[in-house]
Amino acid sequence: VIYDGAEGASMAVANEIRDIIKERQKSGKNAVLGLATGSTPVRLYRELIRMHRDEGLSFANVITFNLDEYYGLSGDHPESYRRFMQDQLFDHVDIPEANTHVPDGLVAREEVFASCSAYEEAINAAGGIDIQILGIGRTGHIGFNEPGSGPDSRTRLVTLDSLTRRDAARDFLGEQNVPRHAITMGVGTILDAKKVFLLAWGEAKAEVIAQAVEETPTDIIPASFLQSHANCVFNVDRSAASQL
Ligand code: GLP
Repeated sequence: VIYDGAEGASMAVANEIRDIIKERQKSGKNAVLGLATGSTPVRLYRELIRMHRDEGLSFANVITFNLDEYYGLSGDHPESYRRFMQDQLFDHVDIPEANTHVPDGLVAREEVFASCSAYEEAINAAGGIDIQILGIGRTGHIGFNEPGSGPDSRTRLVTLDSLTRRDAARDFLGEQNVPRHAITMGVGTILDAKKVFLLAWGEAKAEVIAQAVEETPTDIIPASFLQSHANCVFNVDRSAASQL
């Protein structure tokens, strides 16, 4: 769906999230959200905070699972995705802390496999992800599923692409400070979500959006595997759609 701007595209997703939260509230059930970081979903989170503040939308029955975390960063590190989520959403709504899940960036090497399996199990125990939010990296990554990530990949430790590390250099005040590894949900984990929204704005995303939507699905562009999902929508602005 092509929107005039990021605002409208973000509002549309916020409305869907509000609807499922309210629907589940009526029956005393939880809504399970898969969340993304990066600059792209910030407007969406701002809108959800506004709904909480102005419309009394409660997040007490919301369970969240974030896509990824930098390996080696603690949740207190200013560039960790846990910190980002606290600042951009969790600290501003009434979500119980125990309901929020972000992969543990400090888990010891020998415990990574068990920790990733436990993350997958927690998603399943919550009933699976109802709505998954995604951004997209210029390598075609979703979460941190870099080129080479297959459609059956699950939550695991990955090595970051050099383009991804270059794109993150500004946040870390230099490429040399950007972590080399991350823990990410797999493409298969993402494809298990009941509904997926990928958001993208701006000219810099135009090429990768066209590849993800129009190329034959390939692990060179992991986002292209979303084509096989039965309920996936790309909400983009005019610039990000300009090469379609
Ligand atoms: C990081 C995140 C991705 C995100 C991407 C794009 O690599 N791991 O989840 O989609 O950045 O970031 P931005 O939204 O700032 O363009």
